[in-house]
Amino acid sequence: MTDNSKNTILVVDDEEGILEITQEYFERRGYEVYTASNGIEAIKIIESVKIGCCFTDINMPEMDGLELAEHIRSLDNTLPVIVMTGYPSLENTIRTLKNGVVDYLVKPVNLEQMELSLRRIMRERGLFVENLILREEIERKARLKSLNDELLARVDELNVLNRIMEDFSFSDSTYGIFNKVVKIGMEVVKADKVNFYINSEQEMSFVPIASTNYHDNIAEELSLELRDFFLDVIADDKPCLISKNCGAVGLAEHIQSFMVVPVKIREKPFGVVTACIVDKANIDKINRFTEKDIYYMSFIARKAASAIENIALYENIYDNLFSTLYAFVAALEARDSYTRKHSTRVSEVAYVVGKAMGCSEEELDILSFAGQLHDIGKIGIRDDILLKPGRLTDEEFEKIKEHPAIGADIVGKLGLWDREQEIIRHHHEFFDGRGYPDGLKGDEIPKLARILSVGDAFDAMSSDRAYRKKMEKAKVISIIQGCSGTQFDPEVVDVFMTIVDDVWPHDS
Ligand SMILES: [Fe+2]
Repeated sequence: MTDNSKNTILVVDDEEGILEITQEYFERRGYEVYTASNGIEAIKIIESVKIGCCFTDINMPEMDGLELAEHIRSLDNTLPVIVMTGYPSLENTIRTLKNGVVDYLVKPVNLEQMELSLRRIMRERGLFVENLILREEIERKARLKSLNDELLARVDELNVLNRIMEDFSFSDSTYGIFNKVVKIGMEVVKADKVNFYINSEQEMSFVPIASTNYHDNIAEELSLELRDFFLDVIADDKPCLISKNCGAVGLAEHIQSFMVVPVKIREKPFGVVTACIVDKANIDKINRFTEKDIYYMSFIARKAASAIENIALYENIYDNLFSTLYAFVAALEARDSYTRKHSTRVSEVAYVVGKAMGCSEEELDILSFAGQLHDIGKIGIRDDILLKPGRLTDEEFEKIKEHPAIGADIVGKLGLWDREQEIIRHHHEFFDGRGYPDGLKGDEIPKLARILSVGDAFDAMSSDRAYRKKMEKAKVISIIQGCSGTQFDPEVVDVFMTIVDDVWPHDS
């Protein structure tokens, strides 16, 4: 409603004379006046013009004033209606008031009285409209606040979900994931305890795999009733929430609220995650998990399931890759019956030396793996050079010298195993810098490559070759010692001497 309508009035009366006098009077006072001789005409005007106030007679043909007032009320309840009648009755008065008529003038109406009434009504109407606007404003603000609250809650929720996703994107082991479920679950749903059970078909039971507190005997808490309950949850594939006193399952007395969320991997039941809130001393209020908590926990379970699946997939690919590379080495060694198992033996010797030198578990793993693959680059060398029984020409030897770099390249192309790749590349470097392919010396050569180099030479000398029988132990030891400081790292040679008896091959 705008102010333009403030000075626009509509007068409805079936007496032409009254309309004329009223129109003239109000127009002279600056009002815009519309007239109608019955209710129907009046409505047409109201529908097309913004009217500020309507004066109407009651008794009129077609549609009387009271019907008109009723109609106006349904069209626009802010449009004030003033009724004028020559025959006031109580019944009419009540009806008019019910229909939102704001004033009641008795005919014959004095024009000044009409104007006074109009001014008062317009003032009141102004206040009424202002009130409406104010109320709308308040409602708008309330709506805005509720939208804002909703938005904030949504942002919170997204932050939580995002955090869960991020946490599960850095899981390195399945075991790490179980523990993460427990840790994140505790934080997100504010539980007192979270357990991860695996559904063991073999044991026909749920095995606790991770828990908030390992000192608790979580298995003991798992009554037979609970086991059946877990099976039901898994079968229904829906999370379940139970609160104290509902007596559905045998919950321990101190548990206030308990939830079970199924974990499925590739549509197969994998286990359940449970969370509970326990009674706290001095707190009367019963704390319960909410639907939102269930939602978060289900999300955690889903993310955990996909992370576990990814790891399984990755481990599978990793294993396949290992097998493929080992198969390459086996094929390579099969070309020369004398080098059969050479890589495995080198790997074993290097492992023993590495262990004696105090290498970490990780380094020993790297050493074993690199030992197996150290000569894989020889697959790129022709048989007539690789298997040549006699002395190699310089040109042929140059070809042979390419194998460490080719091997490192093969492993490097898989995008894995940087350290293994380094060892493979440098297993023919000499401690004094006269080796190949890069002529590194001393500490420039990776420690594990220096270890592997001794193992490699040791196995080559201590096993039969096409062109010679294996050497005597004393001779091998003397050659290795003789090369200490030139071909080999003296520290590695010293340690090697302490284990040589253990690794010397049994005659076969
Ligand atoms: Fe080699």
